[in-house]
Amino acid sequence: MAVSLRRSKLAIVGAGSVGATLAYASLIKGVAHDIVLYDVSRAKVTAEVLDLRHGLQFCPPADIDGSDDIAVCAGADVIAITAGAKQKPGQTRLELAEVNVGICRDLIPRLLEVAPDCVLLLVTNPVDVLTMAALEFSGLGKSRVLGSGTVLDSARLRQLIASSLGVASQSVHAWIAGEHGDTEFPVWSSASIGTVPIADFVSPDGLRLDDVARERIGRDVVTAAEQIIRGKGATNYAVGLAATRVIEAILRDEKAALPISSLIEGQHGVSDVCLSLPSLVDKNGVMGVLDVPMSEREIGLFQASADAVKAVARSVGL
Ligand code: LAC
Repeated sequence: MAVSLRRSKLAIVGAGSVGATLAYASLIKGVAHDIVLYDVSRAKVTAEVLDLRHGLQFCPPADIDGSDDIAVCAGADVIAITAGAKQKPGQTRLELAEVNVGICRDLIPRLLEVAPDCVLLLVTNPVDVLTMAALEFSGLGKSRVLGSGTVLDSARLRQLIASSLGVASQSVHAWIAGEHGDTEFPVWSSASIGTVPIADFVSPDGLRLDDVARERIGRDVVTAAEQIIRGKGATNYAVGLAATRVIEAILRDEKAALPISSLIEGQHGVSDVCLSLPSLVDKNGVMGVLDVPMSEREIGLFQASADAVKAVARSVGL
């Protein structure tokens, strides 16, 4: 019996350092059969596609194409938006809102004309505000619009905990919740190593995380991007991998728990704003936001994060 395999298609909007790195990571990980890059600069997109195409022999089977014509995104299953102004040293992610919301207002209706059935993944900052903008400008149901949120920040948290305790990052279960930005916070109350609550964990070498170490790790996660931007002007590798992980969960219909940004409707007293909480991700986007237990203090931080994102959303007319 002939097996007909439907090809999966990922469209990446923006061929800057994040878009190109996302394409590279997606190719290496084999998350889609067809990957396309769209950018307003024909020279840039053509060059990135050529460079990536020359590496196809070393990747799982896939095709890559690109254009300055938005039609290249036609029929995409997932559209990842990385286009927009990026943070300069000393600038917060929220300060980018106005210009990047303007870009989404123009792009999203045109993208939906060519790919009406897509799941929209926002990566551009401030990602929570842009996820709200994308919900409004697309008119899509809330499950089909999500942001990369704190998937990256949670990976940073897990890496820092892992190296402090001498365990594998994959054995650390811990999340950053709230805004992908200055008001985000680790949910220490449910963090664990394997199944051992972090408060009880002592490594075979006697390592544990006291309050001072937790404070330091939390601060290091919040300032991680700033530190990288000061040194090399932008972050690209880890955000490319984090966004690839979300795309993989969508295209493989995984129902994976990931701290993506999506519309929050009542969790911990917060509504009408996009923020990150661990959520199940499947082929339609957000299957559901999980009810993560939080301490009183964490609930307060989550509400403060919501207020910060809402204030910026309001200031740009959302
Ligand atoms: C970062 C950028 C992507 O956190 O916001 O690296």
